Amino acid sequence: MESHSRLEPSQTIYDGELQSQMDLNLLPPSPAPPSKIKSPLPPRPPNPLKRKLAVDALLDNPASAVSDSGVKVIVRMRPLNNEEEEGDMIVQKVTGDSVSINGQTFTFDSVGNTDSTQLDVFQLIGVPLVENCLAGFNSSVFAYGQTGSGKTYTMWGPANALLEENLSSDQQGLTPRVLERLFSRINEEQIKHAEQQLKYQCRCSFLEIYNEQITDLLDPSQRNLQIREDVKSGVYVENLREEYVCTMKDVTQLLIKGLSNRRTGATSINAESSRSHSVFTCIVESRCKGKADGISRFKTSRINLVDLAGSERQKLTGAAGERLKEAGNINRSLSQLGNLINILAEVSQTGKQRHIPYRDSRLTFLLQDSLGGNAKLAMICAISPSQSCKSETFSTLRFAQRAKAIKNKAVVNEVMQDDVNHLREVIRQLRDELHRMKANGNTQADSTGDYSASWARRSLKY
Ligand SMILES: Nc1ncnc2c1ncn2[C@@H]1O[C@H](COP(=O)(O)OP(=O)(O)OP(=O)(O)O)[C@@H](O)[C@H]1O
Ligand SMILES: [Mg+2]
Repeated sequence: MESHSRLEPSQTIYDGELQSQMDLNLLPPSPAPPSKIKSPLPPRPPNPLKRKLAVDALLDNPASAVSDSGVKVIVRMRPLNNEEEEGDMIVQKVTGDSVSINGQTFTFDSVGNTDSTQLDVFQLIGVPLVENCLAGFNSSVFAYGQTGSGKTYTMWGPANALLEENLSSDQQGLTPRVLERLFSRINEEQIKHAEQQLKYQCRCSFLEIYNEQITDLLDPSQRNLQIREDVKSGVYVENLREEYVCTMKDVTQLLIKGLSNRRTGATSINAESSRSHSVFTCIVESRCKGKADGISRFKTSRINLVDLAGSERQKLTGAAGERLKEAGNINRSLSQLGNLINILAEVSQTGKQRHIPYRDSRLTFLLQDSLGGNAKLAMICAISPSQSCKSETFSTLRFAQRAKAIKNKAVVNEVMQDDVNHLREVIRQLRDELHRMKANGNTQADSTGDYSASWARRSLKY
């Protein structure tokens, strides 16, 4: 089964042009839009989708109700490769959560040594992510680090680990493990809450950002897709394919297809270097009826699994030609991400208001909810222990330190039937008003035949 993400009336923001196409068909026509559109609607009621965590809404799973706003940062050190020697190792894990390089120690939530396993990463990041998702929180994981440091290995595992005969391989990466766990927990929850008619539905999309252009990895003929934003759907990619998934088999097919479409190329450090940022998204929706009150509840959560392209020193990796252009774009986009993280960290630490430059790059614009917004965020910072990577490792650890300082604002995305009824009632009132306005026609129109904004505002009060 497949669907395309909704083509809701929208605002094209990224292209600079503010084409307001919000649902204004409820309102009388207006003259040429002013440069800055002020919504003629009355102040919106509190967004039920952003309902604060309600403990009673968490079914019977109080463990999942723990909401903390901190960013979880783990560092994973890859083993030395064939070109590196034991004596080159300059990074040491000091304790379970600290690492030292050249006598300087950095502390995070957890540090994985060269012998850390895919299962370890899953236990640290994947297991809580699935529980948060079922509780209704959005969750994002970013893999960050220099080229060849193990991001793609950590997020997906080697490509052959996705083949059916290898599904139980211990090489399997975080993403397939998360999806496998998700399906198994969904089954458990549906059985446990059968009385409340709990039902889940999942759909996935997979895109890459290559040279600042978005391509659909599930349908690579869809290139240069545009980011849109509207009140109802938030930020989304127009025409991005979304596929419903019910089993692990559905997911592995998507992953194999998407990963085979992703741009890779050889650098001198990594024979299969990712030349794009990839974003795998799974949207999980559930509905159930409250035990005590019988009111229907709908929850939506979004999981973003992001494998970034790696930073590289062009001199070190010997990039040339197309590789050099890609490398320039990758480094620019990573430095925009770094800049945004710095600002978010500063805002969290000082409480000072600052402009947050989400629109500097497609990556940050698309994932703005994950960065300082409504999502729980985990960063996996991949490093190499080798002397030859020293300056990149320092810069990754500094990035990780700043990321740790960010505070997100994750809330349970739940809406109740009562809210839906309330919104329906508001729409009904607006329709009535519109009909009345039309019926009153000329008496309310100004000299151009349009209704004045102030009249519309007054009239639409409810
Ligand atoms: N923890 C690990 N255990 C075993 N092999 C690893 C580990 N981490 C990375 N590798 C191996 O190191 C190589 C580079 O890893 P990977 O492709 O994941 O790097 P990357 O960070 O995604 O680099 P790029 O930014 O260039 O895409 C691969 O051959 C991968 O299998
Ligand atoms: Mg990679």
